[in-house]
Amino acid sequence: MQLAKRTTLISPSPTLGITAKVNQLRAQGIDVIGFGAGEPDFDTPSYIKEEAIKSLQAGFTKYTATSGIPELKAAIAAKLKRDNGLDFQPSEIIVSCGAKHSLYNAIMVLCEKGDEVILASPYWVSYLEMIKLSGAKPVIIKTSEKNNFKISPEQLLAKIRPKTKLLILNSPSNPTGMMYTAQELEIFAKIAVDKNFLVISDEIYEKLVYSDTKPVSIASFGPAIKERTIIINGVSKTYAMTGWRIGYAAARQDIVQAMANLQDHSTSNPVSFVQKAAVVAINGTQDEVERMRLEFKKRRDYMVERVNNIKKISCLTPEGAFYVFVNISKLLNKTINGLVINDSLSLAECWLNEAKVAVIPGSGFGNDNYVRLSYAASFEKIKTGMDRIEEVINKYY
Ligand SMILES: Cc1ncc(COP(=O)(O)O)c(C=O)c1O
Repeated sequence: MQLAKRTTLISPSPTLGITAKVNQLRAQGIDVIGFGAGEPDFDTPSYIKEEAIKSLQAGFTKYTATSGIPELKAAIAAKLKRDNGLDFQPSEIIVSCGAKHSLYNAIMVLCEKGDEVILASPYWVSYLEMIKLSGAKPVIIKTSEKNNFKISPEQLLAKIRPKTKLLILNSPSNPTGMMYTAQELEIFAKIAVDKNFLVISDEIYEKLVYSDTKPVSIASFGPAIKERTIIINGVSKTYAMTGWRIGYAAARQDIVQAMANLQDHSTSNPVSFVQKAAVVAINGTQDEVERMRLEFKKRRDYMVERVNNIKKISCLTPEGAFYVFVNISKLLNKTINGLVINDSLSLAECWLNEAKVAVIPGSGFGNDNYVRLSYAASFEKIKTGMDRIEEVINKYY
C-alpha cells in the first residue's frame, strides 16, 4: 500500500522525542517541570461548563448548521463589533472545531500550487505545515530579537511577487509574545491593498495582553483591507477551553462560503452543546478572563526577571500570549555528560536530563538559537523550574 504523496509533505513534530522522554521520566516517578504547555493551566470557568451541561441535558445533541448556530454567530459578530469595531454579517462568520481548523479551512480554500504565502519566523509551526499541504510555497521573513521579532514594511515589500497570495500575521505571537502596534498594522494594511494580496490575521491571543498597547485587528483599517482579511480567533486560550474545540473565522462571504463547503464534507458542525457554551463564554461576564490575565502577567514578570538574571540566557519581555522565547545561543557548542549541545533540540534534551525541566526547542518555530518556555504553569512550578535551570547553567558554564 502506498500513502498519498501529500502525507510526505508533513513534518513530524520536532518535540515528539522530548515528550516521549518526559513521559518516560514521569513513569519512573521523576518530577519533571513542564514548560512546554500551549494551553492555560486554569480550569474552564464553571458558568461555561454549566451551560454545556444544561444544553446536553436539554437534548441539544443533534447536528447543527455546519457553519455554527445562529446565537453563536451573533455572539461572535457582537464581539467583533465591541472589541474590534468591525461589522460582520452572520454569512461572513464560520465556526469550526478550533482556530486550528479555521486556519486549515482558510488556507485550503485560498492556496494552491503556484501561490506564495508570506509568514514571519519564528512562526507557529502549524502554519508552515498547512501551507505545504495546500501545495503553496511558504516564503519566510526572518525576524530577530533586535527588531522585537517583528517584520518591517521593507522586509515585507522585498518578498512580494506576482505569486504572493497571502500574508499570515499572528499578533500577539506564539512563540515570541510580540505584538504589532496599530501604526505598524496600518502600514501592512496599505501594502496588502496596494499589492492586492490577502491577510490571515490570527488573533487567538488577543485577550492575553499585558502591556498598555491595545490589540488591534488589521481588518479595522478600512473596507479595502477588511475585504482582504480573514480574521481567526476562538475560545481556547481566552476562556481556558482548549479541549472544547471552538474557533472561528470572519471574512468576505465568498471565502466563508468556500470554507463552509469544505467543512460540510469533512467535519460538519462543531459539537452542538459546546457551541451553546461558547455563546455564554463570549457574551457573558469577562471577569474570569481578567483574573487569568492578571495571573499570567504576574508569572510573565517573574519568569522574564529570572531568565534575565541567569548568566548566558536572556529574553525580551513578551507583550502577550503566555510564552517566553529564551535566547540560548551562548549555551551552544558545549558537551555535557557526553551530550553534544549544538542546537535547541540538544539544549532542550540537556535541560531535561540535567534539570528535569521540559522546554520546546526553537527549531520547530524556525529559530535554533532559542527555546520556548510557557508560563501556563503554577507560580511554584515556575519558581522550581527556573531554580533548576539556573543551577544547571551555574554548574556547567
Ligand atoms: C498562534 C496559534 N493559532 C492557533 C492556535 C489554535 O488554537 P485552537 O485550540 O483554537 O485550535 C494556537 C494554539 O496553540 C496558536 O498558538
